Amino acid sequence: MKRDLLALTDLSAEEIRRLIDRAIALKARRRRGILDRPLAGKTVGLLFDKASTRTRVSFEAAAIRLGGGAIFISARDTQLARNEPIVDTARVLGGYLDALVIRTYAQQTVADYARHAAVPVINALTDDYHPTQILADLMTVVELKGGFQGVRFAWVGDGNNVANSWLNAAAILGLELALACPEGYRPRADLVEKARAAGAKVTLTVDPREAVAGADVVNTDVWASMGHEGQEAQRSAAFKGFTVDSALMALAAPEAVALHCLPAHRGEEITAEVLEGPQSAVWQQAENKMHMAAAILEWLAGSVET
Ligand code: CP
Ligand code: NVA
Repeated sequence: MKRDLLALTDLSAEEIRRLIDRAIALKARRRRGILDRPLAGKTVGLLFDKASTRTRVSFEAAAIRLGGGAIFISARDTQLARNEPIVDTARVLGGYLDALVIRTYAQQTVADYARHAAVPVINALTDDYHPTQILADLMTVVELKGGFQGVRFAWVGDGNNVANSWLNAAAILGLELALACPEGYRPRADLVEKARAAGAKVTLTVDPREAVAGADVVNTDVWASMGHEGQEAQRSAAFKGFTVDSALMALAAPEAVALHCLPAHRGEEITAEVLEGPQSAVWQQAENKMHMAAAILEWLAGSVET
């Protein structure tokens, strides 16, 4: 039976740990020049409704690196743009492809594809979630901190799709996560409740200094996500004081790292000094997206048991 990755909640803690271990192993194998071919003869389709640099190219590169092919499908160039139903598109693409990676607006859309396509569907970002990003971020934390146990995570900024996925991760892995978001920009309340009910130590504040105090990992993201076009000015005003800068990082643990899924806006949610500074793990985090994409594709669509 096929598996989909629509949200982190589709995975168990054990599966997340296995994916991270495998992504770290695939990264090491690539460094040693070892060629893995679990996707030989397979084709991955990437159907995108929103812009992407990293997620698109990392999944394409991972598919090719693992011996498979990748086809990028800009949704606006398909018959979807002329109102062909998702159900018909899903059935047809499912017959051509071995996995379908989708970036779109509504979470329901990826669920609809998963229901009607006979191949694994992977959420490459929706308005609600960005699960593959958090898997790469967790991999980065494991590389830098040796695991999640006792690691204090802070989120500073918009309670968006990436923050929601961090809450899912907190629920599954029992993370300690402090979020600082302005009023009106908090992550989904049901996800906060679920994480707390699952035993995660999740706190919410409007004060970034409170969330970052003693944190080991300081995470942020853009103030206006894709789909928030036209809200930039209003959001800039609401997020005043939420910039991750050196003064804020100084409140974190001495060995703390800064994460940002990118694209970054220097001087808004993060300063150039932090992004380019010694505490930034952002470029390692970006590279890890490809190793994690490889681990995900190998697991869901590969022909070799791992
Ligand atoms: N981090 C991330 O998802 O980047 P892209 O939008 O470039 O894919
Ligand atoms: N929250 C951002 C993430 C981009 C990778 C967005 O949805 O635009």
